[in-house]
Amino acid sequence: MSNPLIVAVDGPAGSGKSSICRAVASRLGWTYVNTGALYRAVGLIAAERSVSLDDDENLVKLVEEFQKNFTWDPATGRLYVGSDDLTLRLNSHTAGANASLVAKNSAVRAALLPVQRKLAFFSPKGAIVDGRDIGTVVFADSACKVFMTASLEERAKRRLRQLEAEGSADSSLKLETLMREIEQRDIQDSKRGIAPLVMCDGATLLDTSKLTFEESVETLIRIISQSYNI
Ligand code: DC
Repeated sequence: MSNPLIVAVDGPAGSGKSSICRAVASRLGWTYVNTGALYRAVGLIAAERSVSLDDDENLVKLVEEFQKNFTWDPATGRLYVGSDDLTLRLNSHTAGANASLVAKNSAVRAALLPVQRKLAFFSPKGAIVDGRDIGTVVFADSACKVFMTASLEERAKRRLRQLEAEGSADSSLKLETLMREIEQRDIQDSKRGIAPLVMCDGATLLDTSKLTFEESVETLIRIISQSYNI
């Protein structure tokens, strides 16, 4: 059996990567691999078990245990550790903030590297893999690389709409606060020493700021079809 076709999508938080990639994968009958969920899972478990993010030794143990015990359903994207379904908790503020911090740890990144590749290779046809270092590290040899982004304001507006839809935005939450948080996350993800978020050589820029969701989906399919015969 030949390897699946890989589309490597990188970009900052809130650029629309996960919802757009999931929709495109579903239309093509491919698998969507959200690598951020793995970093979020590690960040979440560390918080729930009170493992300090500076405690390298226990953090690595936690990742090794996670590697052995997690299951992932490619059809729904649900992530379990044993019988514990982490999926909903992965979207929490704690999971996101901790993910960005554990992502700076080289031992954590090294341990999660083969996991990400394995998840993509589950796919019989093709996989759309999104994250921060997919085109530069995880699938550096992919023939189709995309850098998906949107303006800071647009990303904060989307996040606010998402929180409102979930009923988890209180009335005092301001757009400016979210913009500052996202900007902080951008700095953390793009200025770190290891596998920083960058637009890599050969990547196609997809700026979704002024595109509707449907236009973004169609644009990504067009980009993929320029690299692969789909
Ligand atoms: O895509 P996301 O917001 O769910 O990712 C959560 C954090 O994980 C993000 O701040 C950076 C980190 N991450 C990473 O460093 N490398 C990846 N391939 C995916 C995510």
